[in-house]
Amino acid sequence: MLASLLAAGAAASLASSVLAAETPAANTFKCGATDLGNGVHVPGAIPKNLKEPLQHRLAFAGADGMTISWSSFTKWDEPTVWYGERPDKLNQVKSSDLCSTYPTSRTYNCHVKLHGLKPNTKYYYKVSGTNGYEAAYLPTFTFTTAREAGDESPYTIATFGDLGLMGEDGLSDATGPFGGSEHAVLDSNETNTIQSLLALADTYDFMYHVGDIGYADYALKQFVQGYWGTGNETTQPTRQDVADHYECMSEQFFDQMRPVTAQKPWMVLPGNHEANCDNGGVTDKRADIVYTDDWCLPGQTNFSWFIEHYKMPSYESEGRSNFWYSTDGFIELQVHYISLTSETDLGEGLVGPIENSTNNHNGPFGRPNEQVDWLKADLAKVDRSKTPWVLAHIHRPWLTNVNGDEPHVYTAWQQAFEDILYEGEVDAVMHGHVHTYEVFAPQYNGTVDENGLNNPRAPLYIINGAAGHGLDEFPSDYRDPSTIYATDQEMGWGRMTFHNRTHMTYEYVASRNNSVINSNTLYKAHEHDSDKHKRSSWCGKFKC
Ligand SMILES: *[C@@H]1O[C@H](CO)[C@@H](O)[C@H](O)[C@H]1NC(C)=O
Ligand SMILES: *[C@@H]1O[C@H](CO)[C@@H](O)[C@H](O)[C@H]1NC(C)=O
Ligand SMILES: *[C@@H]1O[C@H](CO)[C@@H](O)[C@H](O)[C@H]1NC(C)=O
Ligand SMILES: *[C@@H]1O[C@H](CO)[C@@H](O)[C@H](O)[C@H]1NC(C)=O
Ligand SMILES: *[C@@H]1O[C@H](CO)[C@@H](O)[C@H](O)[C@H]1NC(C)=O
Ligand SMILES: *[C@@H]1O[C@H](CO)[C@@H](O)[C@H](O)[C@H]1NC(C)=O
Ligand SMILES: *[C@@H]1O[C@H](CO)[C@@H](O)[C@H](O)[C@H]1NC(C)=O
Ligand SMILES: [Fe+2]
Repeated sequence: MLASLLAAGAAASLASSVLAAETPAANTFKCGATDLGNGVHVPGAIPKNLKEPLQHRLAFAGADGMTISWSSFTKWDEPTVWYGERPDKLNQVKSSDLCSTYPTSRTYNCHVKLHGLKPNTKYYYKVSGTNGYEAAYLPTFTFTTAREAGDESPYTIATFGDLGLMGEDGLSDATGPFGGSEHAVLDSNETNTIQSLLALADTYDFMYHVGDIGYADYALKQFVQGYWGTGNETTQPTRQDVADHYECMSEQFFDQMRPVTAQKPWMVLPGNHEANCDNGGVTDKRADIVYTDDWCLPGQTNFSWFIEHYKMPSYESEGRSNFWYSTDGFIELQVHYISLTSETDLGEGLVGPIENSTNNHNGPFGRPNEQVDWLKADLAKVDRSKTPWVLAHIHRPWLTNVNGDEPHVYTAWQQAFEDILYEGEVDAVMHGHVHTYEVFAPQYNGTVDENGLNNPRAPLYIINGAAGHGLDEFPSDYRDPSTIYATDQEMGWGRMTFHNRTHMTYEYVASRNNSVINSNTLYKAHEHDSDKHKRSSWCGKFKC
């Protein structure tokens, strides 16, 4: 489909360095289209006006900053944001020179960082190309900045992992022709997670996405699973098909997210699906082919997509790219958020799960031990009397019921991080990766904190990888004894409210009907002026 569109003339202006001609046989694989030119952009389609700004997404850049990112099919030499406090008066302007792409991408990713914004203020903004033809349908987008230092009023974030699309249908009302979890299938009156996040956008301040974003890298697997076409195709995809579908899925995902991400900051960190187009290999039994990393096209390796599409505040927190950083400027919110990567750069000679695996080399991005050294320094910098809450986000869990009653594996990323997080008195560790929702009692080194949720010394563990890419299954009736709640049957996202210095509530919202199906409140005394390691009730196996 795309090959013919490209041939029809759009090709010359597209951003991509499209791969050399590899003529697809009668191509039945569908991905995207071209907009009709009726002033409406269809998610995943190529716009009529190749300068149209698409895929708007925001990220905090320190306490007084906001990074505005978007993509377009044409490069802007001087991407620009106009903004202001009134929709009719966007009287401030900021430009950058950052509009970049990568091989086989069809779009450019533009980033402009605003600084010196007033706290807790609603801003209106538009970006380059908004006044061009076919872009007139765009609203003037808004965002609200972080609160003033010292503001102790309650606030809420949306938190989830593993949110993406599954074929052109976007994982809504069907499984693939060759299966998928039936619990992931929606009735016609129900909503998916993107729709749920939009419907409830007034109930949270920003979003934290614990890795696995969009799943464009699934394009090749989805050919094999029959998501493109009818499932009866005997034709194999060409490399051009794989390149086009990777980009087309990515574009469709960002387009669908825009109503939310244009108004709410979207903090992200890397999961395995940001690494490479073909993690672990794909076997097509029908055609007797094992696809290898050789099918990962230039630009789809080593986190390129992830690095180009996002600019997280690593400069502001002395971190590294989008891989490890913290929201250091967020003192006003009473919470210090830390993003880590479980995929590479574990330090101390540990090898990340996809760092050196066969056919799929990724990273490293820092010097040896850079990530763990940064983590220790970052934790040490937090003044807990001012910022009582500290959360850590790591894509892969080290404890999940998906493993059933198998003995726990002491994973490399647990070895890298657990001791540091415990010593740093992190309150909760958020994971994704397995497509379930699981809450585990606070624990350290396999020992449950006897205080439970009532002022534990050890971190609480929450897995939410059930936002939207199918569901995993718990293999038996066995549940780890430290399980507080676990479901493998409900797509959803977490709504986390910090009431004050001592109370935090995590609600699990079922995306299908926006109802809260589980809620847990963590109490932490946070008496950090006192001698912090002398807690009477918890010594565990650590210093007491
Ligand atoms: C294949 O084709 C048959 C008949 O043409 C159709 O009934 C079926 O749904 C198609 N898909 C799969 C996955 O078999
Ligand atoms: C991964 O492999 C490369 C090349 O063989 C080697 O230089 C590097 O040290 C390995 N990384 C780790 C973390 O073992
Ligand atoms: C991945 O990118 C980083 C940063 O550019 C580089 O240092 C590293 O060598 C790359 N790894 C591989 C396997 O290409
Ligand atoms: C903190 O919030 C919780 C939950 O709303 C409430 O029960 C508690 O009384 C509050 N504590 C203080 C000191 O206000
Ligand atoms: C909403 O969905 C949840 C989870 O599937 C279900 O338990 C609940 O009954 C539903 N509520 C309504 C009103 O349909
Ligand atoms: C959808 O319809 C079913 C039955 O027709 C009903 O049980 C369910 O509550 C409805 N869900 C929503 C979100 O309205
Ligand atoms: C963690 O637990 C293991 C096995 O129970 C034990 O050998 C080890 O010493 C513990 N580590 C710490 C730091 O307590
Ligand atoms: Fe994952």
